[in-house]
Amino acid sequence: MTCGTCHVEAKEQWSGSVHASIRCQECHGGEGTYTLSSDEAAAYVSRGDAPSRSFDHGPSFAGPPDRRQIPELCGNCHADVERMNPFGLRTDQLARYWTSGHGKTLREKGDDRVAVCTDCHGNHDVLGSRDPNCKTHPKNIPDTCATCHVDTALMGEFDLPVEVVEEYRQSVHGTLLLEQGDTGAPTCATCHGNHSAMPPGFATVGAVCGQCHQHAAIEFAKSVHSTLSDHKGCVQCHGGGEGRHFHLIERITKPTGLLIQRYEHLLASEPSPTPQRINEALNPDPRRIMEHALPTCMECHDDLEDDESLPKLFQLLEEIAKAEQRYVATARRLDEVGQGVLLVDNQRFKFEDARTHLIELAPLQHTLDNSVIDGKVDELNVVCAQVNKELDELERGLRLRRGALIPIWVFALVFAGACYAKYKRLKLRHVKPLPARSD
Ligand code: HEC
Ligand code: HEC
Ligand code: HEC
Ligand code: HEC
Ligand code: HEC
Ligand code: HEC
Ligand code: HEC
Ligand code: HEC
Ligand code: HEC
Repeated sequence: MTCGTCHVEAKEQWSGSVHASIRCQECHGGEGTYTLSSDEAAAYVSRGDAPSRSFDHGPSFAGPPDRRQIPELCGNCHADVERMNPFGLRTDQLARYWTSGHGKTLREKGDDRVAVCTDCHGNHDVLGSRDPNCKTHPKNIPDTCATCHVDTALMGEFDLPVEVVEEYRQSVHGTLLLEQGDTGAPTCATCHGNHSAMPPGFATVGAVCGQCHQHAAIEFAKSVHSTLSDHKGCVQCHGGGEGRHFHLIERITKPTGLLIQRYEHLLASEPSPTPQRINEALNPDPRRIMEHALPTCMECHDDLEDDESLPKLFQLLEEIAKAEQRYVATARRLDEVGQGVLLVDNQRFKFEDARTHLIELAPLQHTLDNSVIDGKVDELNVVCAQVNKELDELERGLRLRRGALIPIWVFALVFAGACYAKYKRLKLRHVKPLPARSD
């Protein structure tokens, strides 16, 4: 009889895992097979993975691996190039693991409350990460890390924040991944590394964002801010939350929008608002928005009475918003006209350029350079104007053609009328009267 005869549950999990081809003994030791009478065996088998009676597994049996031994146990195979080659798997996991915060604490302090291989991959139910049930599938990673990282008592002992997971879930990336299933969004492991879980420094994080947002990063590098050593880069604007801005990445207009809403509520609760308050609510002062929504800007732009930076940023945003509206209006018109009899394929083709300009506009504003934005907005406007003009012409042409049809219709009607009259007359003359009835 084999291990699985008695350890039914372990065997079941194991046989559905990537490790189904490696034997229990590789990790636990023990004999290849055991000879027991069926009565003896039954006494052990009945309780599956919690057998009540002690069983002698033989001298080579190592038992369940100690947590501290697990990295080396897995590394026996996974750091072995020869063994992993046939499967095309990397062999750097163990080496990287020892460089991680987790690995260091395990090795240097012998503290086994950190994550070891099995916490992220499972014991017997190890799966390939493409499997949606796998603990390391991108969608499941936040939960996998959360098993420890939302544990207030545990994290408190290491002086680590617990809000990172919740903040991540609320971020643009978290909602993208968890609600829309877009695995292109970064997970915990994208920024921290799969095996080298360390907080990347501010410098490397700029590079992290740039891996996916190349255009934004390139344009940002042209801005004044990128030359300042104490500017925190992308997160200075996009980071939210209590100082842990890396996890709560947001669109900058989101907090601004929220603040405007708050003003509106304030206004609603005011019994008789003064004209000044109404004005304040409808046109919130950039400075007050910034003080509340983007306080980190105040680290440098504190003297806003004279500082034109923030009004300028708003002006840029407004210009972009207007360009966007123009784009949407043109696109809608194109659709409406296209639904009729007119062929607008040419105009659709031209309009593709507008789309390109619009997409380019978003990252461009990171230069904080008005002339660059103006240039792009102009290009977009030119395309929209051209498309609108051609649509005007097409519609005018259609009206003309419809107009030209009127005489033809009149002629056709008159002709039909004449034919009918003629027919009637002929019928009267040639149709014989019916024979008279006999009764
Ligand atoms: C005849 C039934 C039987 C067979 C066959 C058997 N085991 Fe067990 N196993 C038990 C029982 C009973 C226990 C719990 C009591 C004990 O520690 O001896 C156990 C416990 C274990 C434990 C946990 C030990 C601990 O200290 O918590 C591991 C790991 C284990 N077995 C692995 C194996 C492996 C690997 C094989 C095959 C090489 C195997 N077993 C074969 C009955 C069996
Ligand atoms: C890739 C290595 C590996 C393989 C292969 C493996 N195990 Fe385990 N097993 C572990 C680890 C790791 C633990 C958990 C140790 C811990 O958490 O204390 C474990 C725990 C156990 C336990 C203790 C109870 C439990 O489930 O936690 C039993 C029993 C067991 N294994 C049986 C088996 C049997 C039977 C097989 C073959 C069908 C098998 N194992 C194959 C790594 C392995
Ligand atoms: C006896 C050698 C051996 C040991 C020990 C071992 N593995 Fe594996 N592991 C393999 C082999 C071989 C594969 C590839 C199986 C395949 O693709 O069919 C694999 C595959 C994997 C995969 C899937 C990789 C992928 O993306 O396809 C993970 C994850 C994994 N092992 C984790 C672990 C962990 C965690 C441990 C320790 C608990 C461990 N392994 C112990 C041999 C081993
Ligand atoms: C903190 C969590 C965590 C720990 C600890 C961890 N892994 Fe991983 N592991 C991951 C993630 C995440 C992936 C990537 C999954 C993917 O491809 O998206 C991964 C991937 C793998 C793979 C697939 C090949 C690859 O490198 O992409 C293997 C094999 C593997 N790990 C083995 C190990 C071994 C061995 C250990 C212990 C030395 C270990 N892991 C520890 C999270 C972890
Ligand atoms: C089994 C529990 C456990 C799991 C699962 C776990 N961690 Fe940790 N992690 C810890 C503990 C405990 C520490 C504190 C140890 C330290 O700071 O050295 C820690 C520390 C960290 C640190 C800080 C390291 C440093 O040097 O300051 C980062 C970053 C981290 N974990 C990321 C992750 C990520 C990402 C995942 C999921 C892929 C994850 N952890 C899964 C327990 C866990
Ligand atoms: C967009 C990149 C990014 C993502 C995604 C991300 N992190 Fe972080 N994380 C960072 C950076 C950068 C730091 C260090 C700077 C700081 O303290 O804010 C950090 C810090 C941490 C720390 C604290 C380390 C310390 O010493 O204070 C932990 C723990 C942590 N992250 C865990 C996670 C977990 C768990 C997830 C997933 C839920 C996650 N991170 C997702 C970039 C990221
Ligand atoms: C693994 C790739 C990846 C990384 C790394 C990454 N992002 Fe993203 N991010 C995305 C994807 C995908 C979207 C979805 C919208 C898109 O396609 O631009 C997104 C969306 C955003 C948005 C919202 C844009 C919108 O249109 O709603 C902002 C802001 C953002 N990311 C900033 C950052 C910052 C700051 C960092 C670095 C801390 C970062 N991202 C790191 C992939 C990534
Ligand atoms: C000075 C403030 C500021 C800084 C610094 C900044 N951004 Fe932005 N970013 C904005 C504004 C304003 C928008 C306009 C859209 C929004 O988020 O509301 C934006 C938009 C974006 C978008 C969405 C663009 C789209 O296609 O819709 C991404 C992605 C992005 N930023 C990434 C980054 C990255 C990566 C960095 C760092 C290299 C960065 N940002 C630095 C202010 C900033
Ligand atoms: C580390 C200091 C620092 C931080 C933090 C900072 N800025 Fe700046 N910013 C500067 C400096 C220095 C300049 C260039 C000098 C000037 O023109 O005022 C500048 C220029 C600007 C400009 C362009 C002004 C122009 O006329 O070209 C804008 C817009 C701007 N900042 C917006 C912001 C926003 C929004 C934030 C917060 C998300 C922010 N800044 C955070 C230091 C900073």
